[in-house]
Amino acid sequence: MNKFIVHGPTRLRGEVEISGAKNAVVAILPATLLVDGVSHIENVPRISDVRIIMDILRSLGAEVEWQDNVLTVDSRRITSCEVDYKYAKKLRASYYFMGSLLGRCGKAVVALPGGCALGARPIDQHIKTFKGLGAEVRIEHGSVYCTSASLNSTHIYFDVVSVGATINAMLGACKAKGLTILENVAKEPHIVDVANFLNAMGANISGAGTDVIKIRGVARLGGGSYAVIPDQIEAGTFMMAAAATRGDVLVRNVIPKHMECISGKLREMNVGVEEFDDSIRVFVDRPLQNARVKTMPYPGFPTDMQPQTAVLMATVEGTGSIKESIWESRFRYTEELKRMGADITVSGETATINGGAKLTGAPVKACDLRAGAAMIIAGLVANGRTEIEEIEYIERGYEDIVRKFNALGANIERVTED
Ligand code: EPZ
Repeated sequence: MNKFIVHGPTRLRGEVEISGAKNAVVAILPATLLVDGVSHIENVPRISDVRIIMDILRSLGAEVEWQDNVLTVDSRRITSCEVDYKYAKKLRASYYFMGSLLGRCGKAVVALPGGCALGARPIDQHIKTFKGLGAEVRIEHGSVYCTSASLNSTHIYFDVVSVGATINAMLGACKAKGLTILENVAKEPHIVDVANFLNAMGANISGAGTDVIKIRGVARLGGGSYAVIPDQIEAGTFMMAAAATRGDVLVRNVIPKHMECISGKLREMNVGVEEFDDSIRVFVDRPLQNARVKTMPYPGFPTDMQPQTAVLMATVEGTGSIKESIWESRFRYTEELKRMGADITVSGETATINGGAKLTGAPVKACDLRAGAAMIIAGLVANGRTEIEEIEYIERGYEDIVRKFNALGANIERVTED
């Protein structure tokens, strides 16, 4: 079993470089199947989710390789349109192969990823979109079967704001005949990044990042190059860590506009936030005050920043609260934080944090990707040794996280125990 051993307390100081956005890359790489040519993708983080997607692309007949720091995908010869359960069970974002294979081959067979730590993770809005484009969709033997002789434009009003369904709709519609209109869409930075990638390959998509996306189908997407945007959540994670440890960190390679909600909440808590063109400095030079947070779709406070923020709130005198409005069960990590001395009460979709308790190191586990990052931050704040199990969750989405934290003065070891 692999673990992180975190020795605290530590004040983080120095500079950290943010990698490419995981939630953009896990959609852009499946989208390369829509390209009848070679895609050169820059700024792809070397994380386990990317390695799984590379294996899936190869299983479908694409040629995938790193050339220096550019991931090259040659999808001119696709030999299959089926994504096996052995991949889907490891990667929730395997559902993006539904839209890209349907758009490429007129057929997609993708195993259902199933639920996870956050809850049921339904895909009804994805299926609604594929049916709207004219595909026949059925679920059998744990897989989604989508078939369509030809995809035609549609007008979809999403029942819920869904990142995945918005992206899958763009993938399915970009080669469908006519003008597809999507309303009540997600507006996250990674939505815009996927649309920009598709347009760079020859698609005709407008309105990404607003409430209405319009997609005029094109006959073919050629090859090309594209650089992935910086990861908003990785940047936010290091900003929270700097504040929680009362440090002084320059977070580099960010788009400050994407960070506005996080920066605003930190400033509300008296944390110092200084913005530059492509970096943000986070520092603490006065007493902090606690706050209230409600997670919302972008540009609201990101649900993927929720666990990390709870750790900061636990270090600040006074009462903080977090209302989780996106996922039905995203508070499992609070049980781990309570073992380190945090005073947190969860009632329904709200966690109340009585801050100011002194955290002490303890053996804990990562309940999911972002909860795992929160455990690292808690270990940096706590007095003593924190052992974090199930770090595979963390390494799915954070590139070189131990090296990056240790370069800021942390003392974290990655160990393997029989
Ligand atoms: C994406 O998940 C992210 N994952 C999640 O980040 C993130 O928490 C989430 O968006 C919200 O921002 C990736 O991008 C790979 P949704 P996704 O569809 O697309 C409901 C991380 O830590 N819903 O926006 O699966 C759903 O139950 C991960 O990086 C339906 O009801 O999320 C949820 O309540 C964790 N029907 C809400 O919508 C559907 O068909 C938002 O889900 C789809 C979703």
